[in-house]
Amino acid sequence: MKILVVGGGGREHAIITKIKQNKNVEKIYALPGNGGIARDAECVNIGAKDIDAIVAFAVENSIDYAIVAPDDPLVLGCVDALEAKGIPCFGPKANAAIIEGSKVFSKELMKKYGIPTAACEVFDNVDDALKYMETAPIPTVIKADGLALGKGVIIAFTREEAVNAVKSMMCDKAFGKSGDRIVVEEFLEGPEVSVLSFTDGKTVVPMISSMDHKRIGDNDTGLNTGGMGTVAPNPYYTDEIADLCMKTIFKPTIDAMNREGRSFKGCLYFGLMLTKDGPKVIEYNCRFGDPETQVVLPLLESDLLTVMQATTNGTLAETEVKFRDKHATCVIMASKGYPESYEKGFEISIPDDIADNVFVAGGAIKDGKLVTSGGRVLGATAIADTLPEAIEKSYSMVDRIKFDNSYYRRDIGARALKAWEVK
Ligand code: AMP
Ligand code: GLY
Repeated sequence: MKILVVGGGGREHAIITKIKQNKNVEKIYALPGNGGIARDAECVNIGAKDIDAIVAFAVENSIDYAIVAPDDPLVLGCVDALEAKGIPCFGPKANAAIIEGSKVFSKELMKKYGIPTAACEVFDNVDDALKYMETAPIPTVIKADGLALGKGVIIAFTREEAVNAVKSMMCDKAFGKSGDRIVVEEFLEGPEVSVLSFTDGKTVVPMISSMDHKRIGDNDTGLNTGGMGTVAPNPYYTDEIADLCMKTIFKPTIDAMNREGRSFKGCLYFGLMLTKDGPKVIEYNCRFGDPETQVVLPLLESDLLTVMQATTNGTLAETEVKFRDKHATCVIMASKGYPESYEKGFEISIPDDIADNVFVAGGAIKDGKLVTSGGRVLGATAIADTLPEAIEKSYSMVDRIKFDNSYYRRDIGARALKAWEVK
């Protein structure tokens, strides 16, 4: 089979590493991929948002199955366009990807179908939003409606911060058109859990749970990032909570999307907060999370391509999806300065014996060498029988991976370890 993977980050590298294990796969193309992915797939310089060029490439190269990984092409209708040419895909159509593409849509969906989430108000007019801020409960959470590279959420701890957030989104257009409408949300508290799931629109199969570390600094300080590390499973997510989430969140969401005529197929990501009033949805993503994928997929025992095809064919109920009873951790190594400005172009050295467990996000080939080309450069994933061993193994990998100006958090897994120890 010839497989096409749209995207070019650590998530796509983890997907490709897993897909390669299927014996029927003869060739994998990554569009655009990156310098590190080039080790495992043929990278083609077509951007993930260039839907016309992606479709033309897929047709010309007789692609048998396409995996559309990032949010942008999904929301732009990449799956619709490929399927129109007869190419089966992993991923939702645009009318279902809206569950991530519009926070207003997802909040209204949850409200209509009684799915637990933070209470909210929606504004498309700056004067109304500013007036609301005069009496809103503080802290408050302000979210741009559309996609914003994971940065469109501001938690305001004072009224002044809340007013500034509204102005920056609605007047200064900090996130472009994504801020034309905003959602102002109740501030929730509790441990956060990421649950990625496979779904064919009828059956929903949650993957092993995970925990992201979104802030740049140790002890969850500093700016928000795309994610600085992950652990799986998430020790806060007990079997009882998992059962409750299936009943109150996962199944109701799949049913709600069907009722709206927006059947969701692919990976539906549930970002949850375990509040004292029960689990609530913080966000939906219409795709695999990153860096969650870098711990979840290495723990998948079943064949990934087979499971993906089952989501496309509607046969997920008859397909085995099994995870190993182990622990995985991923430490992201970034360029110093990220998520703000940083230098790039530094040579990366990854020892051969660990390269299969290093997923490259920001790497390019220059003069035949792998060099840094992005903020998040790579993820070092380790698997072990226990969480403390997995953490130690990840950091010993990090010690052996070298590039100038590297930065990483030293406390990935520390919070999970506290919960794990009391279990
Ligand atoms: P999102 O991009 O929607 O995942 O939001 C980024 C982060 O903001 C989340 O991972 C949470 O830590 C935080 N967050 C989002 N919504 C809320 C909320 N209603 N209450 C508290 N924290 C939130
Ligand atoms: N790690 C969070 C996300 O992929 O959105």
